[in-house]
Order: sequence, then C-alpha cells, then structure tokens
Amino acid sequence: MDRVIIFDTTLRDGEQAAGGTLNIQEKLEIARQLERLNVDVIEAGFPISSPGDFEAVRLIAKEIRAPIICALARAHPVDIDRAWEAVKEAEHPRIHVFLSASDIHMLHQLKKSREQILEMSHDMVVRAKKYTDDIEFSPMDASRANPEFIYQVLESVISAGATTVNIPDTVGYAIPDEFGRLIEGIFQNVPNIEQATVSVHCHDDLGLAVANSLEAVRQGARQVECTINGIGERAGNASLEEIVMAIKTRNDFFKLSTGLSTRQIYKTSRLVSELSGFSVQPNKAIIGANAFRHESGIHQDGVIKMPKTYEIMDPRTVGIPASSLVLGKLSGHHAFKERLAEMGYSLSDEDLNRAFKAFKELADKKKRVTDRDIESLVAQELRSVSEVYRIDRIQVTCGDRGIPTAAVRLIGPDGEVLEDAALGTGPVDAVCKAINGLVDVPNTLTEFSVKSVTEGIDAIGDVLIRVESEGVTYTGRGADTDIIFASAKAYINALNRLLSAKKAAG
Ligand code: KIV
Ligand code: ZN
Repeated sequence: MDRVIIFDTTLRDGEQAAGGTLNIQEKLEIARQLERLNVDVIEAGFPISSPGDFEAVRLIAKEIRAPIICALARAHPVDIDRAWEAVKEAEHPRIHVFLSASDIHMLHQLKKSREQILEMSHDMVVRAKKYTDDIEFSPMDASRANPEFIYQVLESVISAGATTVNIPDTVGYAIPDEFGRLIEGIFQNVPNIEQATVSVHCHDDLGLAVANSLEAVRQGARQVECTINGIGERAGNASLEEIVMAIKTRNDFFKLSTGLSTRQIYKTSRLVSELSGFSVQPNKAIIGANAFRHESGIHQDGVIKMPKTYEIMDPRTVGIPASSLVLGKLSGHHAFKERLAEMGYSLSDEDLNRAFKAFKELADKKKRVTDRDIESLVAQELRSVSEVYRIDRIQVTCGDRGIPTAAVRLIGPDGEVLEDAALGTGPVDAVCKAINGLVDVPNTLTEFSVKSVTEGIDAIGDVLIRVESEGVTYTGRGADTDIIFASAKAYINALNRLLSAKKAAG
C-alpha cells in the first residue's frame, strides 16, 4: 500500500494537553475543519472520561460523514460499551481499545501479569468486535515493553478481530533507529500481521515524535497518529502538518502519499491555535509565522530570482494566505462574505452578521485590515459560542499618579444587567477584580499574555488568559485594538468556559 492513513487525535490526545480544554461547539468546529482537511480518521474523544466528552463524540459521529470517527476506550467492558454508544451513529465508526504492555506499567500501575494483560486485551477486542468491524488496539508504552511480548499481544488481538494495531511511544522515549527496528520486528515476528494495518503514535518528549513516526513509515507502518500543531499530553504528539508535508515534499524518498487537502493545513492550524489557546511558535515548521520568511539578503535575492533556491515547499500548498490589504471601511457585506469564503470560512448567517459588524468597527479604527485581522475577528465569533456572561461596557482610569479603577457592566445569563467597580494594581487587574465581583466563581489567574495580530501601532492585541479552578485550567482569548478591553474579553471568555464545563459536568 502506498498511501499513509492520517489519524488525527487533536480532539483526544491534543485536548489532553494541560490547559487545552475545548467545549463541545469548539470540538465540532474543529471536526468540520478536519473533514475539509480530508483526514482519514478523527479520534473524537474518550467517551467514558466525562459526559461532555461523550456528547462531543456523539455529535461529531452524527454530523461528520466522510472520515472514520474513532472513540477511545480502556480495556474495560464499560468503557467499550460507552465508546460504542458515542460512535454508533457514525457512517464509519471505530473503537480504539488500549492497555499497557510494558513491565513498568504492568507491575507498578496495573499490578497485573503478562498473562492477565494478554487475556484482557483479547477479550476486550472480542467485546468491541460485537459492535463494529473496525477495531484498533494499542499496547500502551510499547516502546519500553519487551518486544517479544508485544509480538504476542499483537498476534492475539489480531486473532480476536483487531483491524489496526497501533504502536505507541507513550512517553516519547524512543530513538528513530530503535523504533524503526521495533516496527520491522513486528512485521517479521507477528504471523498474522498482514491482516491488520500497523499504526504508530509518538510523543515528543525528546523532540523526536515526527522522526520516529517517519522511520516507522519507512519500515512499513501505514497509519500515523498525529495532532494539528503537535499539541498533546506534555511535550505533545507528532505534528500532523510536519508528517504530511514531509511525505509530500520528499516523495522521491518515501514514494508514498496521503489523502490530505494540504491547502487546508494553515487554516486548520489557526483554528486549533485560536480555540485551544496554544500559540504556534514563529519558527514552527510548515505553519510558523517565519516558516516562509527570508531575512538574509542572499536568501531574498535567491527567492526573487527562483523560489526553489531557498524554498523547498510552495507556501500556497499549505494554504498560507498572502498578507495583503484585503478590505477597507467602504467594503460591503457581500465583499466581506466573499473574502471569508476565499479564506475557507463558512459562517452561519448569525455569526457572519456579527463578524461583519466587528469588521466595520475595526475598519473605522484601523487603516489596513488584513487577512490576519479577519481571522482574528472570525475566531472571536467562534469563541463567543459558549457565552454565558457578555461585556456590555467597560470604563477604566489609570496613569502614573492615579489609582487604577475599572467600572464594568455585564449582561448575565438571563439578560440581567450587572454592574460593579474595583481598584487594582493596574488597569487589567482592576477590570478582572470588577468582573470577579459580578461573576461569582472562585478561580486563580495563572497566565496572562498579549501579542499583536499584525504589525503597526494600530494592531489588534490578542490576549490569552488562563485561570485555574478545582485543579482544571481554562483558557480564554480576546482581541481588540484596545488591549484593556481585549483583556476583559479574554477573562470573560475563560470564565464562560469554566462555567460551561461545570454545567456540562452537572
Ligand atoms: O500515548 C499513548 O499511549 C496513547 C494511547 C491511548 C494510544 O495516547
Ligand atoms: Zn498519546
């Protein structure tokens, strides 16, 4: 087979990243975009983990028709039954069962013998197989396990009906050559291996997740599990965009392809960054702001003469938009809608009207409205889906002599008007204190950062705030040309997420 199956786990392992919680609407929005990106499999969540996760998987399975929709389950009967409940309406459902297979996990965490692990994995695949034909099995921590035992487990789960066997480097410990040999060993030592697709799932603790995945592909693996922007547990998972573009750009080496619509990569990356709150570092391969920028005079000269001199990929193949002046304050609703469509956005009429109003307000304040500004406006509309409290107005006084003071008016969940004022160490602190007086939910602000969306003194400021409540981190984003107002929006956004998550958890 010369095609590599792309299994996206942004909504499951990606969401496991500390502070990366997404609400149901946001997960659906990302799933729709993953379908446009044409990934083969979407791992939509871990249904037993919470009612919210169950509901998100169920809704994604119901709506997203083209890709396989996969639900994760531990090797427990209740997990498997719940996973099936969540994905049963999918056009192409998959259940993914996992169980630890390394001695470290078996002895210290599960307190089970190899025999017990063999039996549990076999029996749970049989159970899942009663529901659907498409079953994936992962022996967790495989890269630190005894290879002979992994061969035994794989043979057993394939005989029980597993159609994909996934080899996780759960703690990002593997080195490419060694991981490649494990995959090679699997092909040589598991007698029924041709009845299943071999998959890999690598974490980035040593910065080797992509290298390990590609080496596994070279050894015959034909499914790669990865996430957009490489987000995920701890240092993250293998980055989807890097895997896909390496296979495409170095087709001369791999002689393989993926089915992805690579022009959707940039947009998917921006959406995931906006909704998860994880910024993409400027030097990130493929989708970082500097990935196609040439600073050195010699390089610029080369690229002007012939792009291939210093560019191994055409930025258009990953959908990087030209950063140009696109619309002005005289542009109408139709032109705005057309521009959004060109950028790959399709908003509901209600969201479109709100985004257009925000665009008009921005065009009044800012001379040059670029694609990046428009992306920021759209992201705000997507974020406002989970609104419980809404900011009506904010007034702040500050300066080197005065005491920073903020007066805030919010609209509450039932449309009630709520007002308060507070003093603070600075204007942002005063605004947050005034908001806290109105939204009575205990929380600690753990992170605050602001960056500009584009260059120039009139740029939109994009604020990220993280708050913690009962050990869980919630991220809020807000953007405006006034950074105090952007901070208030970000804080309310974080509190709205916190309140929605608490409501969903009952
Ligand atoms: O990293 C891991 O081992 C996992 C499994 C559930 C596949 O995420
Ligand atoms: Zn993982």
